[in-house]
Amino acid sequence: MQNLQVQVSDKSTGGSRQHSVVLDERELKRVSDFIGSEVGIQLPMTKRTLVESRLSKRLRVLGFTDFKSYLDYTLKSIDGALEKLQLIDVLTTNKTSFYREPDHFEYLVNYAIPAITKSSNGVRREINVWCAGCSTGEEAYTLSIELNRIEGAGEKVLFNILATDISHSCLSKASQGVYTDRQAESIPEELRKKYLLRSRNANEALVQMGPKLRHRIKFKNLNLMDTRFDAPKNMDIIFCRNVMIYFNNQLREELVAKFESHLAKGGYLFVGHSESLNGIKTTLKQVAPMVYKKSSEK
Ligand SMILES: C[S@@+](CC[C@H](N)C(=O)[O-])C[C@H]1O[C@@H](n2cnc3c(N)ncnc32)[C@H](O)[C@@H]1O
Repeated sequence: MQNLQVQVSDKSTGGSRQHSVVLDERELKRVSDFIGSEVGIQLPMTKRTLVESRLSKRLRVLGFTDFKSYLDYTLKSIDGALEKLQLIDVLTTNKTSFYREPDHFEYLVNYAIPAITKSSNGVRREINVWCAGCSTGEEAYTLSIELNRIEGAGEKVLFNILATDISHSCLSKASQGVYTDRQAESIPEELRKKYLLRSRNANEALVQMGPKLRHRIKFKNLNLMDTRFDAPKNMDIIFCRNVMIYFNNQLREELVAKFESHLAKGGYLFVGHSESLNGIKTTLKQVAPMVYKKSSEK
């Protein structure tokens, strides 16, 4: 078993000392039981080193010298309630980017939105979009850019985006809407010019999502494992990409059923490219790679 050296500050001497801290099997099970039931994410033995390394940061911050004391504090004590959120934060994978898996945005613009607006016979139509598991916001802003373009092209649509995640730190970053130039590189240049604001400080390579993009998005904390979602039932579009990848089949099936009940008739569910719903019981019909549609009849 690998030994991890955790640097902890020693308040009594004012200095710091090295401790070998190992997350043993029993402790990993405590973490994985908690994360599995709370968030849905599976943490098998193969993830031990990853969990150990991510949690060691929290030990360092709080001054714990072993995982058992840290877990007793976090999972058992009343004072540990806030730390539970930090524990969830460090163990969720938040990788994302603008225009990730870009063919989904092409499908949205060229097929899904026209099919939805066609059914409203030229009357101005409100389109409700839910970005579930939005991480630090890049996916929700990409949706906002694309839907703004559709509106700007004179289509009779008005859209709202609900963007949710379990991670408070991700949501805080998402609602600021500030990214580095490097992160924003995958947004086509003409759209960056049109919708993004440059930092006033010329030395900072930062951009902010402009008001047209931000005003349409509501960021909200929501745990997809909750039995009932505090989200509207008339969603035309749900994006839930690269979230279910960490869930087992039963949880995926339950989540897809909940999404189905939150979709309007003829609405679309987009999942990540490695998250096919093959083998999952659902009445949603696949209409494109990892794009599923609810019947217009139901
Ligand atoms: C890998 S990111 C995907 C971000 C974005 N959808 C994309 O595809 O680029 C997964 C996100 O799902 C969130 N997540 C995981 N389990 C969740 C749950 N039970 N409820 C809500 N969000 C969850 C994580 O916090 C993380 O931000």
